[in-house]
Amino acid sequence: MGSLSLTKFQIPLVSSFVLLSIVATILNPVTAAKQCDFPAIFSFGASNADTGGLAASFYPYSPKKPYGETYFNRSTGRYSDGRIILDFIAQSFGIPFLSAYLDSLGTNFSHGANFAVGGSTIKTAGGSSPFSLGIQYSHFERLKNTSQFISSKGGVFATLMPKQEYFSEALYTFDMGQNDLTAGFMSNKTLQQVNASIPDIVQSFTSTIKNISNFGAKSFWIHNIGPLGCLSSILTNFRSAERDNNGCAKAYNEVVQFFNQNLKEALAKLRKDIPLAAITYVDIYSAKYSLSATQRNMDLSFHM
Ligand SMILES: *[C@@H]1O[C@H](CO)[C@@H](O)[C@H](O)[C@H]1NC(C)=O
Ligand SMILES: *[C@@H]1O[C@H](CO)[C@@H](O)[C@H](O)[C@H]1NC(C)=O
Ligand SMILES: *[C@@H]1O[C@H](CO)[C@@H](O)[C@H](O)[C@H]1NC(C)=O
Ligand SMILES: *[C@@H]1O[C@H](CO)[C@@H](O)[C@H](O)[C@H]1NC(C)=O
Ligand SMILES: *[C@@H]1O[C@H](CO)[C@@H](O)[C@H](O)[C@H]1NC(C)=O
Ligand SMILES: *[C@@H]1O[C@H](CO)[C@@H](O)[C@H](O)[C@H]1NC(C)=O
Repeated sequence: MGSLSLTKFQIPLVSSFVLLSIVATILNPVTAAKQCDFPAIFSFGASNADTGGLAASFYPYSPKKPYGETYFNRSTGRYSDGRIILDFIAQSFGIPFLSAYLDSLGTNFSHGANFAVGGSTIKTAGGSSPFSLGIQYSHFERLKNTSQFISSKGGVFATLMPKQEYFSEALYTFDMGQNDLTAGFMSNKTLQQVNASIPDIVQSFTSTIKNISNFGAKSFWIHNIGPLGCLSSILTNFRSAERDNNGCAKAYNEVVQFFNQNLKEALAKLRKDIPLAAITYVDIYSAKYSLSATQRNMDLSFHM
């Protein structure tokens, strides 16, 4: 664990997002956590946010893949050569890196848990992970329900569980939806059909967030979807797709943009439903698209 004692940041955070200049639109006065002094993080998502869940569930870490090793000096199951955005957020708060909920070896949930699993979808069947957002939500519910019972055993058990108050004080992060769209693109659906499925997917997303808020969660940090039309997997599968000036497949990015617009509007509605919550929509798309502009001739990672 990197034992950095970085100063706690104030929204908008981003100082430690070395490469990405993330544009966070904060449309809500922050009533939940004035100082961004979060003692814990609960993370939901897919490979962009996975800290070992998929690897723990299905296969041992391969020494050949990066899996985080340039920073951690070992494979940790991350889909990155080093740290992921979630790791930088944790370090900025001065809390340990998050253990994957699904990992049964050496995990410590005292400052939160990571329910994210590579390949997961919000609701679309056909992703490569069975741990959809609904399942991640039930894992969260189980941790919340069970943690106090485990803590009550005292000793080492108590040091492995979050304090009860952390569930309302924590930052809840989300990075999901990418696999719902790619599962659609890779099936025989037309772009219009994938596009038309978006409002339903977003509805399910915000409904889950609302349900999590019923457990006392107040601070939400929600990534939109990156420019999938710039991914090498899309570009090689759909070679005839029209390209934009950055060499990205235009129509695919338009579908992503529709998702992001839909999400932004749905979150604006959600702010009215749960006025005491601070809901931050994070524009990952713009940050990653600007990377595609500078790295246009490089093979962009699948986890763009
Ligand atoms: C990885 O190894 C380097 C070089 O030995 C060391 O400086 C660094 O602290 C190690 N990183 C971790 C996370 O242990
Ligand atoms: C958690 O507790 C609530 C309230 O007691 C209950 O309704 C729910 O079914 C429990 N969920 C799990 C996953 O244990
Ligand atoms: C779990 O992590 C917390 C915070 O870093 C630490 O204080 C505690 O000792 C850890 N528990 C174990 C059993 O290592
Ligand atoms: C797509 O359609 C082709 C030809 O109709 C069929 O062979 C293939 O199984 C379909 N693929 C999917 C993912 O539905
Ligand atoms: C949210 O909770 C409601 C009421 O318990 C339930 O009917 C609904 O299915 C849940 N939605 C999601 C997406 O989990
Ligand atoms: C997606 O659907 C919306 C709403 O019907 C429409 O405005 C938009 O042009 C569509 N985008 C694509 C790429 O089909």
